[in-house]
Parts: sequence; structure tokens; C-alpha cells
Amino acid sequence: MPDTTSRQADHPIDPQFVARWSPRAYTDETLPEATLLSFFEAARWAPSAYNAQPWRFVYARRGTPHWEQFVGFLNEFNQSWAKHAAAIVIVISKSTLTPPGSDQEVPASTHAFDAGAAWGYLALQASLSGWATHAMAGIEHDKIRNELDLSPKYKIEAAIAIGRPGDPATLPEGLRKREVPSPREPLSKIAAEGRFAF
Ligand SMILES: Cc1cc2nc3c(=O)[nH]c(=O)nc-3n(C[C@H](O)[C@H](O)[C@H](O)COP(=O)(O)O)c2cc1C
Repeated sequence: MPDTTSRQADHPIDPQFVARWSPRAYTDETLPEATLLSFFEAARWAPSAYNAQPWRFVYARRGTPHWEQFVGFLNEFNQSWAKHAAAIVIVISKSTLTPPGSDQEVPASTHAFDAGAAWGYLALQASLSGWATHAMAGIEHDKIRNELDLSPKYKIEAAIAIGRPGDPATLPEGLRKREVPSPREPLSKIAAEGRFAF
């Protein structure tokens, strides 16, 4: 059980928010597709501007034909630990939308914001189900775009590793030390009434 002393909420919230964290050690348990679909189902219910639902998830599970290709979508550092996860998901967002009542596709100013909300929902559902998620910005954008044949209107946001949390002792020395839930800035540094006080 990780040390969670640095993760105490200063105001009352549901415990699920501090319980979710991003480990790098996973057991060798594989992820049933139905379970993974339940995580996408949670993401599906995120809010989005115009209800445009710009998020897209492309995934591979360990033990399936696309696995090695998806591990290759990560940079070297992320490959070193995420290759032991049970699934890798590429989060993509559609950067255009057609507003209600219009037949014109226009740039969507909030596609990344909306996809971020969806990933957050996914992460919380996974955590509630006993699985861990770990987002990764360290990915090979050109490779992903080419191999998934993405048109320019689709933006690659991040990758997510999903797995059953495992024993940190299985990690190499350098990563083992980092395998602790992280703290957060105090609320006073991120929220202010009436003026930008930061
Ligand atoms: C968009 C995004 C990109 C991230 N990229 C990486 C990454 O490439 N490699 C990595 O090991 N962790 C990555 N992280 C994990 C963060 O470092 C981690 O979420 C943060 O330190 C907060 O810790 P917690 O998720 O355990 O609460 C990323 C997280 C997010 C949300």
C-alpha cells in the first residue's frame, strides 16, 4: 500500500479523487475488453461544448495483435514501464465541430479541454474498478498519426497506460523511488475569488 500521507484533502471530497493516482508498476493481469469498455463508457458521459463529444480512443490490450505496435507509440522512457501494463489507449480529439443548426464545420476551441474531461472520467472509473491509469505525453506523434492514418482535423492528445497496480519492487531502482502518490498545490494557489491572484 503506497504512503498516502502527502495526499490529504483540505476540504471534504469523495475519497475517490485522492485514491486515484498514476503508478508505473503493474501485475501481469490482462484487461478484459468488457472492463475496458466500461472505462470508455464513463468517458462517454463527460460534458463537451455543443455536446460535440470530440474524444476518440484507440486501444490495444497486451496479448492481442496490436500490442507491440502500440508500445512502439510511446517514447523510450514510457515504453520501459508501460510495456508491462495491460492496455495502451491513444486519446485523440476532433478539432472541428458542426454547431447545432449549421451545416458548416468550424474549428472547435474546446476539443482538448473536452477530451481532458473524458480522460478524467475514464481514470476515475478505472480507479473505482481497482485498475490504475497513467497518462503519457511522451509519445511518438508522427508515428501515431501515420500508422493510425489520422487526418489533420484529429489531434493526438496523449496516451494512457492501464493496468492492475503491482509491486513497486518489480520496477528498476530509479523508477521505484518515484512510485509514490504525488501531493498537490494548496487551493489558495489555484483558486481565487474575483481576481487573478496568482
Ligand atoms: C497529460 C499528461 C501527460 C503525462 N505524461 C507522462 C509521461 O509521459 N510519463 C510519465 O511517466 N508520466 C506522465 N504523466 C503522469 C503525471 O506525472 C502524473 O499524473 C502527475 O505527477 C500527478 O500524479 P498522480 O496522477 O499520481 O496524481 C502525465 C500525466 C498527464 C495528465
